Amino acid sequence: MAPEPIDSSMDVPYPQYRCAICGKELPLTETRMTVTCHEHRADGEVVAFEIRTAVASDRHDIEEICDRAWGETEIDAFGRTFDVLAGHNLVAIADGKLAGLISLALDHGELAIVLLSVYPEYQGSGVGGALVEAAAALASERRLPSLKVATSNDDIAALYFYQRRGFVFYQIEAGTLVDHHGEVVSGFADIPVRDELRLRRPIC
Ligand SMILES: CC(C)(COP(=O)(O)OP(=O)(O)OC[C@H]1O[C@@H](n2cnc3c(N)ncnc32)[C@H](O)[C@@H]1OP(=O)(O)O)[C@@H](O)C(=O)NCCC(=O)NCCS
Repeated sequence: MAPEPIDSSMDVPYPQYRCAICGKELPLTETRMTVTCHEHRADGEVVAFEIRTAVASDRHDIEEICDRAWGETEIDAFGRTFDVLAGHNLVAIADGKLAGLISLALDHGELAIVLLSVYPEYQGSGVGGALVEAAAALASERRLPSLKVATSNDDIAALYFYQRRGFVFYQIEAGTLVDHHGEVVSGFADIPVRDELRLRRPIC
């Protein structure tokens, strides 16, 4: 059967990823995957960063990274809408600037990652992994049973990233993102965005 036509690309003007070979910053649809052996994987540069809880003066930077990653500060996931600005936000700071954000909220007794975004220039340097570990530590402190995340079927890099860090699929909401966008849009590597994939990591 012929694939359905893809009506438009994601209407997000900013690059989401960085080429691991040349460093070029890439809109989602321009990304492509390469498989390498462990020895030849292309890590990013070594970057010194710190992770801390966001404070009121981070608001503008948080709005900006949300705008670049998602186009707004309200995020639909797990069947509801989350407001990043009302969430528990952890920021990664490098060179005195915001390098990445993880926005967290309680959802049905679990800690949910509402948004995780690392600016392309800092990707591959451990910032995203450190933000996830800080979120897991917070869930552990609060004695929550799990940390969960929702991502889309196209975002192969994120699916790799989360499974490498102990997350396991538990639910797929097939077609829900087509309903959300009102059409089939192109995402990572031009893959049609259709499904919300939910993963969770147990917290001991
Ligand atoms: C997914 C994302 C949060 C990961 O953040 P990050 O800071 O690159 O994460 P890390 O550096 O800790 O780990 C990235 C992994 O990809 C590898 N990698 C190598 N080069 C890379 C590059 N240029 N860019 C990204 N990752 C690279 C890293 O080695 C690491 O792999 P490993 O698990 O085998 O060690 C980040 O790429 C991002 O913000 N993407 C766009 C938005 C997005 O997809 N968010 C998640 C949706 S829920």
